[in-house]
Amino acid sequence: EGVITIDPGFKNTGSCESSITFLDGEKGILRYRGYSIEELAEKADFLEVAYLLIFGELPTKEQNDKFHNDIKAQAVVDEDVKKIVDAFPKTAHPMGVISSLTSALTAFNPTSVNVNSEADMYRAIVKIMGKFPVLVAWTYRKKLGLPLDYGDDSLGYVENILKMMFRQPNGNYIQNRILVDALDKLLILHADHEQNCSTSTVRIVGSSHAGLFASLSAGISALWGPLHGGANQAVLEMLEAIKEDGGDTKKYMTKAKDKEDPFRLMGFGHRVYKNFDPRAKIIKKAADEVLGNLGIEDPILDIAKGLEKEALEDPYFVDRKLYPNVDFYSGIIYRGMGIPTDMFTVMFALGRLPGWIAQWREMRLNKEPIGRPRQVYTGAKLRSFVPLENR
Ligand code: CMC
Repeated sequence: EGVITIDPGFKNTGSCESSITFLDGEKGILRYRGYSIEELAEKADFLEVAYLLIFGELPTKEQNDKFHNDIKAQAVVDEDVKKIVDAFPKTAHPMGVISSLTSALTAFNPTSVNVNSEADMYRAIVKIMGKFPVLVAWTYRKKLGLPLDYGDDSLGYVENILKMMFRQPNGNYIQNRILVDALDKLLILHADHEQNCSTSTVRIVGSSHAGLFASLSAGISALWGPLHGGANQAVLEMLEAIKEDGGDTKKYMTKAKDKEDPFRLMGFGHRVYKNFDPRAKIIKKAADEVLGNLGIEDPILDIAKGLEKEALEDPYFVDRKLYPNVDFYSGIIYRGMGIPTDMFTVMFALGRLPGWIAQWREMRLNKEPIGRPRQVYTGAKLRSFVPLENR
C-alpha cells in the first residue's frame, strides 16, 4: 500500500476534474461554464443559469422553453406528501423539513432512483426542478399556517416561487418586480461553487449510485451547518443579538478575536476567497438597491455596515484575509423580502439546486468511482478479549 497523506478538511485535496465552475480565490473570480458571475447576475435569469450549469451551454430560446415546460409539467407533488408536511411541528427547522421532504420524494417517485441513461437523468432533473420549489413553498406556508397549494404556470420560474410562498388564502398576491429581480440575482449567485461541503456531499453520496433525490437530501443536510449555508441565518441572529445588546459592535469584534472564545464573526472569512468574495460585492449592491427601493430603514443594516467597516480596518481580520462573504449580505435582502430568518438557508438550497444537479450529472457521466477516502489508524494494537465478569 502507498503512503497515505492526511489532509484534514481536504484543504489541498482535489476530488475530481470538473468543467462546471471556475474559481480563483486569490483574484476573486467566479465563473459558471466560462461566463463571469458578474455578467450572469446582470443579464441572465436563474433558469437559464440552471440550464447552463447542468447542460454546459446557455439554452437557445427553444431549449429554454422546452426545459421550462418540462419543469412545469413536473411541478406537482403527490397529495400524500401534505400528510408528511402536516406531521411536522410548526416550530420544526425548515432545513430539517426540506431535507426530509426531498428524501421522501424517492418514495413517491421510485423510478427516479435508477438512472441508466441521459434520458433517465433528464427526467429526474426536471422532476426535482419542478417539485423542489413546491416543497420550499409548503415548508414556509406550513410554518405560517397557510394552505398548501400550487403556483401559477403562466409565470416565470422565480416569479412563481415568490407567488407560491406569499399568496394569501384569498388569492391576493402583489407581484413586485424589484423582489423578483433581487431573488433571481440571489439564486444565480448561489447556484454553484465547485467542490464545497454540500456539493462534495452530493457527489460522494451519488457516487454510490444512490439516486439524485437522496444525494440532494444529503447535500441539504450539509448546507444546514452554520459554517456553510447556515451562516446566512447565523449572520442575522448575530446582528439581532448585537442590537439587543445595545449595538456595541466593538464588543463583538473583541469576542471574535479572542481565541478562548468560540464566537466567530458570522459572514466573514472563506476557505477559498482570500481577497474578496465576488458574490458579496454584487449582493451588497443589490441589498442597497432593494432596501432603498422598498424604502426599508433597518437598524440591523446599520449594525452590519458598522461591523463591516470595523472588520475591514482591523489588523486581525486584515492579516487573516477575512472579508465579508456572500452570506453576510444575503440575509439582509431576504429579511427585506419578508422571509423569516430560519428560511434563509432553504433559499440558499433553492439557489444551489442546479449546481448540485450539474455536479451529480457530471460525476455520473464521468463514471467516477465510489468516493471512499482512507485514514491513518491511531487506535489500540491487537489485544485479547476479556470476558465481562473479569473486567
Ligand atoms: N471570525 C473570527 N475569526 C475567524 C473567522 C471569523 N469569521 N473566520 C476565520 N477566522 C480565523 C480563525 O480563527 C483562524 O485564526 P488563527 O489562524 O489565528 O487560528 C484563521 O482565521 C483561519 O480560519 P480557518 O478556520 O482556519 O479557515 P477555514 O478556511 O477553515 O474556514 C470558514 C473558513 C468560512 C469556515 C470560516 O472563515 C468561518 O467559520 N467563518 C464564519 C462562518 C461563515 O461565514 N461561513 C460562510 C462561508 S461562505 C458561504 C458558504 O460556504 O456557505
